[in-house]
Amino acid sequence: MRGPALPTDVLAELRGVVGAAHVLTDAGRRLGYERDWTGRFSGRTPAVLRPADVDEVAAVLACCHEAGVAVVPQGGNTGLVGGGVPLRGEVVLSLTRLDQLGPVDPLAAQVTAGAGVTLARLDAHARSSGLAYAVDLAARDSATVGGTVATNAGGLHVVRHGATRRQLLGVEAVLADGRVVSHLAGLEKDNTGYDLAGLLCGSEGTLAVVTAARLRLVPRPAASVAALCTFATVHDAVAAASDWRRRMPALSAVEFFLEDGMSLVCDQLGLARPLAAAPVYVVVEVADRVDPTEELLAAVGATAGLLDAVVAGDERHRRELWRFREEQTTAINRLGAPHKLDVTLPAGVLGDFPALVREVVHAVAPEARVWLFGHLGDGNVHVNVTGPAPDDDRVDDAVLRRVAALGGSISAEHGIGTAKRRWLHLTRSPEELAVFRALKDALDPRGILNPHVLVG
Ligand code: MLT
Ligand code: ZN
Repeated sequence: MRGPALPTDVLAELRGVVGAAHVLTDAGRRLGYERDWTGRFSGRTPAVLRPADVDEVAAVLACCHEAGVAVVPQGGNTGLVGGGVPLRGEVVLSLTRLDQLGPVDPLAAQVTAGAGVTLARLDAHARSSGLAYAVDLAARDSATVGGTVATNAGGLHVVRHGATRRQLLGVEAVLADGRVVSHLAGLEKDNTGYDLAGLLCGSEGTLAVVTAARLRLVPRPAASVAALCTFATVHDAVAAASDWRRRMPALSAVEFFLEDGMSLVCDQLGLARPLAAAPVYVVVEVADRVDPTEELLAAVGATAGLLDAVVAGDERHRRELWRFREEQTTAINRLGAPHKLDVTLPAGVLGDFPALVREVVHAVAPEARVWLFGHLGDGNVHVNVTGPAPDDDRVDDAVLRRVAALGGSISAEHGIGTAKRRWLHLTRSPEELAVFRALKDALDPRGILNPHVLVG
């Protein structure tokens, strides 16, 4: 595979396809595409290509395929596992200009969105029809449809609506050699062979480049009400989450973080604490067609082990409470690029996990700081570790091995990227990995699509 320099004839052909203004070779203009959001993963690219539509994506890939040029597809560059930046001199294929948004089909509650549409824009578009896009995450203003499909993004409402794959009714995608596959009719029932959309979702840009998606929309809740609750232990918080799931069918989020994270966010953002300090904080939200305040108050009031709670009285207050959870990522990142481990644990193990993971980390890095937060409702804990150098992966190794031994997954939602490749075998059998390899070889025989990601 070629290094950072591109042959001049290939560069000229690519300029002819997307226009010279959309082939960025100048170091200053490349920079934002070469480095990930955390600053932990960065590399150099000979060029960033910014096609305007599926035809240009197809022509770009046909050219790169012919020339054997490796390509990293990139959406909003909010990925966290080094899967969307050019770590080995690949060309960056930025999909942000594919930002066409089709009309909402109110009968089917569906929409077709270009890969470059951000989640915030998609949701605002659905709002005008009384609908919503179910996948939401703190990076909503930058994260794109293409990137979230490629990574099967989860986010804040998996407990209610599932992750991206569950919203996906079809995709348009460009294969490595430039051929286009498109299946965007959005039929709820369509048993005509392999589910290509389901396969490409979560394939991290290794099998094809997603250029558009047909997406399911959900009824827009008339009211969302959130409460911030405190607990003495994660065990108590896990039991509460289980109880709330049973009591409140309209439960839309159960998110947690710990006292050190609360303290960090308050210090960095200059926020006042909304409650007395406690070991564990949980944001619980209910979203429904009728005001769910009474339902939430009753459920929270009946929660065993609850230390204290504040229920948001209005929308502004609700957003303020969410900030304590959503700003965990930014606040931790300001301490220096963290090691971000994104794991799921079986429900029965979650309560013991905080103490266990600290023990595991400190056994290999006594000075490291461990920050825990995440999506308690679906068992997804974000283990962030600050202190160890970015390329020192002893902590990653120790934590991921322990998670696998506990029956968990080494990636709940961020994906494998380049960062977790060497641990994929911990939760995928040799037979499964052989199938992954066969799929990769069938769809990308020259290995030009994200060659160092996932199965690379
Ligand atoms: C989150 O849940 O906040 C996101 O997955 C981002 C992160 O893990 O930092
Ligand atoms: Zn998350």
